[in-house]
This record gives sequence, structure tokens and C-alpha cells, in this order.
Amino acid sequence: MKWRARAAPYRAKERANISFFIFVMFFAVFGVIVLTQLLLLERPNTSASSRSRYNEELQGWEGSRIETGNGDGGDSSIPAHAPLDAVWQPVAGTRFRFYVYSAYVERRSVAVVRVIAATKTRGPDSVICRLWLPDNRTLTLKARVKAIRENWNLKYSATYVLCLLRDTGVKPQDTVGASISVLAANSPNRSPTNLLIVLDTEPKSGIEETLHICVKPFHFSYNRDDWLVEWFEFNRLLGASHFYMYNESLSTPVGCLLDHYRKQGLVTLLPWKLPIISKVEIRTEGQFAAFNDCLYRSMSKAGWLLVIDVDELVVPRRERNLPALLTALRASYSPPSKAPAAFLFRNAFFYLRWDDDTEAPASLVTARKTRRWATPHALKNRSKYALRPRDAVELGNHFVWEHSPGASSAGVPTERALLHHYRIACEYGGVNCLTVPSTVDRTAHRWSEELLQRVIHERELLIKDCPA
Ligand SMILES: *[C@@H]1O[C@H](CO)[C@@H](O)[C@H](O)[C@H]1NC(C)=O
Ligand SMILES: *[C@@H]1O[C@H](CO)[C@@H](O)[C@H](O)[C@H]1NC(C)=O
Ligand SMILES: *[C@@H]1O[C@H](CO)[C@@H](O)[C@H](O)[C@H]1NC(C)=O
Repeated sequence: MKWRARAAPYRAKERANISFFIFVMFFAVFGVIVLTQLLLLERPNTSASSRSRYNEELQGWEGSRIETGNGDGGDSSIPAHAPLDAVWQPVAGTRFRFYVYSAYVERRSVAVVRVIAATKTRGPDSVICRLWLPDNRTLTLKARVKAIRENWNLKYSATYVLCLLRDTGVKPQDTVGASISVLAANSPNRSPTNLLIVLDTEPKSGIEETLHICVKPFHFSYNRDDWLVEWFEFNRLLGASHFYMYNESLSTPVGCLLDHYRKQGLVTLLPWKLPIISKVEIRTEGQFAAFNDCLYRSMSKAGWLLVIDVDELVVPRRERNLPALLTALRASYSPPSKAPAAFLFRNAFFYLRWDDDTEAPASLVTARKTRRWATPHALKNRSKYALRPRDAVELGNHFVWEHSPGASSAGVPTERALLHHYRIACEYGGVNCLTVPSTVDRTAHRWSEELLQRVIHERELLIKDCPA
């Protein structure tokens, strides 16, 4: 027993030494990581305080130059293929993978062509843009690569490439219909491996009350086609007239259903094959590239844009539809110029595992599932939003990251509308979510009768279109 008494303090000392060593090593490694990040960090510091300001107007950008007058120079040769829209195309010659998807005119505070892209989050490769105008002029433009903020610190991120028009004498509207290519700055004479068509973003007149919906990319062979009919028809009753959707992968029945709605002009379904590994290298399917593509794609056509998922519905409690609610909300501000450009809706879970409502007027999910969390989540915690696309620069999942100058967001009181989140699974966290304080909320019953008619009608049409 005696040796033990002596050995114990010795072992304790040894342990303390090892702990100290680990402690020192930890800080050494941490220090190296921080230093590397600092050295690689190229983008300017966008602190939280500048979040809602229009902060793309950065000083010190050098001008771009006009390359050749007629586009016959060797380094301005047009790629073999025609310009594409909504296809992930590679940028060749970069150290890190770099893909571009779509290009939009930006004429608000900065004169640029805005390209939706995906590449390295920190320390991305430098790129330039080459622009072929409809009048045959070819320009080489300086470009800035700007990670979209909601990137979860993964290696790759949804990104904007801003192709700068300053000092070129070219106005943003002159680029509508032009072709543009993003090239690695270190090999500007390489022939382009991507070519995008520049799309217009100028809001058309008379679209104030038009409501469109953005949905993040479908994946894992999404297959809830039966519920999807109810979701589409409820949103149509709520005033939505168009849906932008992205196809990473779909089950055959859902593909057929979306085709059915596409033929009616209701759905724009865009391919979404991004060769960056979802969740490991980039946040779920590069969804922030999709949200922001949707923002600019809808800008000329949608007075309002609603960003929700296919298990969510924003349900107004007084008005019959969302444009009426949004107009009323805006009208409550004075002067009208103070009215917010975006409205956030608080999330309330309606678990599908909770019992059906015994007073359900129809056999619909939204009629049967009326039990929800008694206290909805706080704003920005799972909230979703509607916004004026023309007043936003950058969208996130739960709120608008950046508005145009002077625009702002506001929360919607729960007595005016709620985000109904029809969820199959309880969320993680260990607690038995079915025991959370709940209440019965029959707001959705206001639409049940009309909704049932529409769902029945649509299912009849679908049986012809999609027999399987
Ligand atoms: C642009 O070039 C094409 C082919 O060389 C020519 O047919 C067309 O007239 C030119 N357009 C203008 C505006 O110069
Ligand atoms: C969805 O994308 C897959 C894979 O690219 C494709 O095979 C399928 O046809 C697409 N579905 C629809 C409905 O466009
Ligand atoms: C979001 O809301 C849930 C439920 O109220 C809460 O448990 C969670 O901590 C909140 N998350 C954040 C980031 O505030």
C-alpha cells in the first residue's frame, strides 16, 4: 500500500504535465488556423452592423476596359455553344472548384452584372468577366467574388460574382440579352468554359399584387406528391400565381406532378446539378444560391416573393389571401415610405403525429392537423418571409440579409398570420416533442371547403397526366 501513496502524487503531476502540454498544443494549432484564415481572407469585413445596409458599393475598385471594338480578337472568341441560363457551368483554370449558374442586370446602387455562382468560401480564385454585347462590342470586366453570408463556414459557398461596369461607358440596361463568361484571372486568354445570358431585373408595371413563391432545391428523391397537390392548391388560394423550384432529384410521381403544373404555366422547374458535395462541402444543396437566383429571376415579374418550404404555409388570420394581408400591413405604416419591404412570419409546428381534429371539415392535412405549438418560435428562429424582390439584395433561409438602400424588414404579429409548419418528425434535441404545450388552431378551416374542391379537381386531371 505504501508505494501507492507515493505513486499517486507522481501520476497526478504527470497528468497535469500532459494536460498542460495538450493545452499549449491546442492554442498553437488554434493560432495557426486563425493566422491562415486571416492571411487568406480577401473579402472586406462585413460586420453585423452593416448587414442591412447596401454594402456592395465599395470604394477603390479599378475600372474595367473595353477590349476589342468588334469582337474578332483571339482572346475574345465566343465559346462554341450558345449562352445558357440555369445550368451549373464550370470556370476552368481555377485552383478551387468554381461554377456559375445565371447572370442578372444590377442597376440599383452598383452598375454590375451579377452572376450567381458557387466556389471556395474564403480565399476564392480571382476572376474576370468577358461580356459580348448585343451590338457586337466585347468587353473585359474586373470582377469581385463575394461569398453569400449564410454559408455555415463550410469550405464552399453560394457566391456572387459582380462584373463591374464602372468606367466602361456601358449602362446596366445595355447588357440585357448579352452573353457573359467568367474566366480565371490568371488565364484570361483561355477559351471560355461557361457562357451565360444576362437576364433583366427591371420590375414590370402592374405587378404590385403579384405573389410568387421560391422553394429550395428538391433532393433525396422527394416523394410526397399527394400532400404536394394540397400545398400547391392552398398557396394558389392564398394568391400565389407562380412557383420557382429547383430539381436536384425528384421521385417520378413528383416529377410528373411538377410537369403537370409547369404545363399550366404555374411552375418554373430548373435543373440543379451542382458538383459540390451537399452538407459536407456546401450547405444543403447550395440552397442559398437557389434562394438568391430566385430573388433575381422573379424581380421583374413578382411584386411579392414568399420564401417557404414544401411543408410550410403562411396562413393569414383575417384576410383571405397574402397580397391582401401584405398590402394591409404596409398600409399601416406612415408615411408610406417607412413601410417595410419584407415581413417575417413566426414558425409554429403542427406535428403530423398529433391526433386528427375530430371536427375536421375535410380529409385534408390542413383540415385534420390543427394542433400546434402554443407559443410560436421567436422571429428569425425558423421564421420565413415575404418580400418585395426589388428591395432586396441578398436572401437567407429565415430572413433578408441585405436590403436595397432605405428598405427594411418587420415581424408580423401572430394575430395577423403564422407560418404553419406541417412536420412529420419531431426535431432533434432529445425532449419528447409531442409533450410540448399545444393548442388547437382552426384558422386553416376557413379554406377547407374551397380547397377540397380544388384538390379533387386537380387530382382528376393528374390521373390522366400521371397514371402511375
Ligand atoms: C454583329 O455581327 C454580326 C455577324 O458578324 C452581324 O451580322 C451584325 O449585323 C452585327 N451587328 C451589329 C449591330 O453591328
Ligand atoms: C430532374 O432532374 C433529373 C436529374 O437531372 C432528371 O433526370 C429529371 O428528368 C428531372 N425531372 C424533371 C421533372 O424535370
Ligand atoms: C429557437 O426556438 C426554440 C424553441 O422555442 C428554442 O429551443 C431554441 O433555443 C431557439 N434557437 C435559437 C437559436 O434561439
